[in-house]
Amino acid sequence: MTDFSNVSPERCPVSALSDTFHLSNEQLEAVFRKARTESPVAYLEDIDFWAVTRHEDIKHVLSDKEKFSAEITLMPLAPLAPEIRNLLEERNFSPRPTLSNNEREDHERIRRNTQSAFSPARNKKLEPYIRKLVNDAINRFEADKRADLVRQMVYELPALVLFKLLGIPEEDVKNIKMWADSRLMLSFGKPSLAEQLVAAGHLADYWDYCLDLVKKRMEAPMDDLPSDMLAVRAGDDRILTIEDINNVVFGLLLAGHETTTNMSANAILTLLQERNSWEMIVSDPSRIPSAVEECLRFRSSVVAWRRLAKTDVTLSGVLVPAGSKVLCFLPAGNRDEAKFENGEHFDINRKDVRSHISFGFGRHFCLGAPLARLELQVILEALSKRLPGLRLAREQSLMPVETVQFRGPKELWVEWD
Ligand code: HEM
Repeated sequence: MTDFSNVSPERCPVSALSDTFHLSNEQLEAVFRKARTESPVAYLEDIDFWAVTRHEDIKHVLSDKEKFSAEITLMPLAPLAPEIRNLLEERNFSPRPTLSNNEREDHERIRRNTQSAFSPARNKKLEPYIRKLVNDAINRFEADKRADLVRQMVYELPALVLFKLLGIPEEDVKNIKMWADSRLMLSFGKPSLAEQLVAAGHLADYWDYCLDLVKKRMEAPMDDLPSDMLAVRAGDDRILTIEDINNVVFGLLLAGHETTTNMSANAILTLLQERNSWEMIVSDPSRIPSAVEECLRFRSSVVAWRRLAKTDVTLSGVLVPAGSKVLCFLPAGNRDEAKFENGEHFDINRKDVRSHISFGFGRHFCLGAPLARLELQVILEALSKRLPGLRLAREQSLMPVETVQFRGPKELWVEWD
């Protein structure tokens, strides 16, 4: 494994990641610590981004819509080759910015009306299904006394929950997962041209699938989010257009899958490393919601989130010129000692446990946060109740996933007696 323990703050952790994908949690956190104290706002020449690592600065960047635009949030890290653009055009692939990268006035309207469909009642309906998925997974591996919790539980789980939310039938699940992986690779990986062409075909397949799904729900509503959104719309384009609904359905798969898979693995890993905290939730499950928040703060799965500076702006005394691309390092802000007392320390009893920025901040704050919290809570409840002696297996690499935007272990081997 490459040693980045001496990485200077000027050497961007994200560019280091894009070279190797091999930075461990501890190495990444050491880089963030150094950056936050020595150069909290730094221009990273090799990738042409400004890195921002302090809590207050990140909140400012994410929430000040006069000075920062979210339009570059989902832009592929590597520009798409002309062949890919042609293929997507031929396939009528035409999603438009709707939520996380939408800077138009209609963001507020679409968000408000999506939120009323994506309601606590909808999450409540999903809860028994989430519990069943988690318990079925434990039933399958319980007798083995050993499991890779990524492969055997948390890789599939958030995708299956999203499929249920979106009303995607079981028989289509395999295809959709393949398309979703391709989309992720195209947006945040470093694919070859041949891989890009295959992935772009999958992207267009998934777009067509979403259009078809919404059309079917218009003809025959079911108990799912697209049908709820159509009900909120009530035939009125001023509330939501069909195009808005197509785009939200298309966008949710990426937003709610990788983020939650990695966060679930990070939470289990952290609690097993911080054994006292694990014992606390085993003996008192009412502490699980606080444990979830502290895991989100301590080891967020979203490493970096992007914005574009619309005007010259000064952050921590440094001038960031208009037109600059900015990377907000959420895990760095989450350990900022200026915000969190003893911020490098994991403590499920801290008072300000919900003040982290793992779900972003301001007008684009994560719409799926209640669902993600629910999934994390159910996973921890079931594991701590059914396998209280759970421990990390000794020999394992904890290699991180190969995307630059997210972090989490590729495998998480655990054991119990
Ligand atoms: C632990 C899991 C998750 C994490 C860490 C996470 C993190 C984030 C972050 C950092 C943002 C950007 C916020 C900003 O720009 O200020 C975001 C936005 C968003 N997330 Fe999540 N997310 C998670 C799970 C989910 C789930 C499960 C869903 C849906 C099912 C979801 C849907 C969305 C949507 C729709 C947006 C865009 C909201 C807008 O722009 O108005 N997320 N999320």
